[in-house]
Amino acid sequence: MARIVGALSTSHVPSIGGAIARGEQQSPYWKPFFDAFNPVHAWLEEVKPDVAVVIYNDHGLNFFLDKMPTFAVGAAEHYDNADEGWGIPVLPSFKGDPKLSWHIIENLIHDEFDITMCQEFLVDHAFTLPIKLMYPNAGATWPLKTVPITINSVQHPLPSAARCWKLGQAIGKAIESYPEDLKVVVVGTGGLSHQLDGTRAGYINKDFDLLCLEKIVSDPVALTKYTNREIIELAGSQGVELMTWIAMRGALQGRVSKVSSTYHVPISNTGGAVLLLANEPVALPLAAE
Ligand code: DHB
Ligand code: FE
Repeated sequence: MARIVGALSTSHVPSIGGAIARGEQQSPYWKPFFDAFNPVHAWLEEVKPDVAVVIYNDHGLNFFLDKMPTFAVGAAEHYDNADEGWGIPVLPSFKGDPKLSWHIIENLIHDEFDITMCQEFLVDHAFTLPIKLMYPNAGATWPLKTVPITINSVQHPLPSAARCWKLGQAIGKAIESYPEDLKVVVVGTGGLSHQLDGTRAGYINKDFDLLCLEKIVSDPVALTKYTNREIIELAGSQGVELMTWIAMRGALQGRVSKVSSTYHVPISNTGGAVLLLANEPVALPLAAE
């Protein structure tokens, strides 16, 4: 059976791609953020996941204001990188796992999540940069297959934190019922607090980010109590990308432990956070005779 071995969540600002292209990973500005991936690299080297299920938010590349699915799942053979205009270098294509994608899609629909299923899917910085950060030395091919899952964070009304938590639980259940012996890492990308537009442009709330980093490990249900309006007030209008972290955490069905956690502010306009969680299966009680 497939097993969720752990989960990584990270901020995904496009300027990370610029810093990689210019080789600035060890510059004083970027070092704390890039160094947060050292324990992630050691963990990946040890655990060697086969597939990443990446929960993120599309920024207007696949879906725009005219047609905006609340939740979408990719079911393609491969996912090509494009971006929505930040001019960062394009990364090599990502291999899909259509069989696993369709299994997740079937299970989500069965669990009453009316997602959009996509047999063509372009991926933007929110998908590509976290994988590049996980595997900085990968060449033309990536060491694992991928399944992209998007949550609308662009066009209101957005799904609630409670709904994203339940989506994550359904994704986790779907993965763990997949009959192939795969090691799956769930990746949640976005956040933490940031606002890119309007009178509060540049807004970051360190206290709230640190609270989220703690609660996502020990008491994620507490985060599902916030309304979207409260999240926007506390974390900024783009801080709603926190939903991807909540869904990521919902997918973890087992005994969850923190491997590493880093917060460094700012990267670009964002509270930069990186969190790695391990997930150990919990033995199911034997059914009563
Ligand atoms: C920034 C952050 C994002 O999440 C994003 O998608 C684009 C830009 C930023 O901080 O600049
Ligand atoms: Fe973003």
